[in-house]
Amino acid sequence: MKLIDYGVRDDERPYIEEWSKENQIEVKIISDLLTKDTIELANGFDGVVAFQQLPYDPEIFDRMNDFGIKVISLRNVGVDNVPFDSLKKNNIKLTNVPSYSPTAIAEYSVTGLMMLLRQMKQVIRKVDKHDLRWAPDIGRELNGLTVGVAGTGRIGHAAIKIYQGFGCKVIAYDKYRNPDLDQSIYVDTLDELLKQSDVVTLHLPSLGKGHTVINKETISEMKDDAIVINTGRGDLINTQDLYDAVESGKLYGAVMDVYENEVGIFNTDRTGQDLPDKLLEKIINDPKFILSPHIAFYTTRAVKNMATISLNSMLEELKDGKSQNEIDLG
Ligand code: COI
Repeated sequence: MKLIDYGVRDDERPYIEEWSKENQIEVKIISDLLTKDTIELANGFDGVVAFQQLPYDPEIFDRMNDFGIKVISLRNVGVDNVPFDSLKKNNIKLTNVPSYSPTAIAEYSVTGLMMLLRQMKQVIRKVDKHDLRWAPDIGRELNGLTVGVAGTGRIGHAAIKIYQGFGCKVIAYDKYRNPDLDQSIYVDTLDELLKQSDVVTLHLPSLGKGHTVINKETISEMKDDAIVINTGRGDLINTQDLYDAVESGKLYGAVMDVYENEVGIFNTDRTGQDLPDKLLEKIINDPKFILSPHIAFYTTRAVKNMATISLNSMLEELKDGKSQNEIDLG
């Protein structure tokens, strides 16, 4: 058996090499992303593993089919950039890594929130310039705030435990309630959650283009001075509406680890250059926004799990014809 792993970063490589050695299976490591051009390298391999945020071109799967490759295994969870139709047409199976480290993302939610509440962006900027004064960057405390967790899957569940540990009142909303949680924390609607929360943290998948959870209308229902945290998907928020609400003073601020137009910008080095996205540039400069380039997942534990679980799923598919991480293509 021979596998090919695309879009591999240097921090992933040792885990893939270790897996290959342990399992005695050849894995060709490619740093290029998976495109309709680079798929040619997969000819002669049994399975394709990949991870990227750019959309997967449907033609990739036609070529995979030509090469007799019937499984693609993703090293991440999100499948919103995969054309299911093309997979189905070519009878190709897809696996993802549904859970690589829920705590990585849950911890990042609270990290960003603490930074915002204690004005750390401003404080660090001042200290870097040797301005060691306190005022005007007075903080707010997390203890006692009502935190609304939207989405109570693995990540939301981990976030709830952390926020409860900080002495927050946690309320939650999910269409499908998590039986492992105390059911009394649930409210019946997302509107209710938005109305009652001092902090709203989003742990939902993308709801599809144009289906935002945070927008002008929903913001008007929220408490004054509330905070929004998004470590899920950028398109859950109408960013312009959020920016306007923070600028007008309606909301206190926001933590954004994801951005609706991040693909092609995040995880690139633009040191010293203007950004092509002016709204993003304004957000980065604004002390009321903690903006990071989709790094909530980026921990050693998560990266190791993404690298190895994707390969294990591929192995299950090729050996047993089924992996528990296989995606139902509908
Ligand atoms: C995912 O696993 O889908 C993530 O959100 C990580 C990412 C950098 C694409």
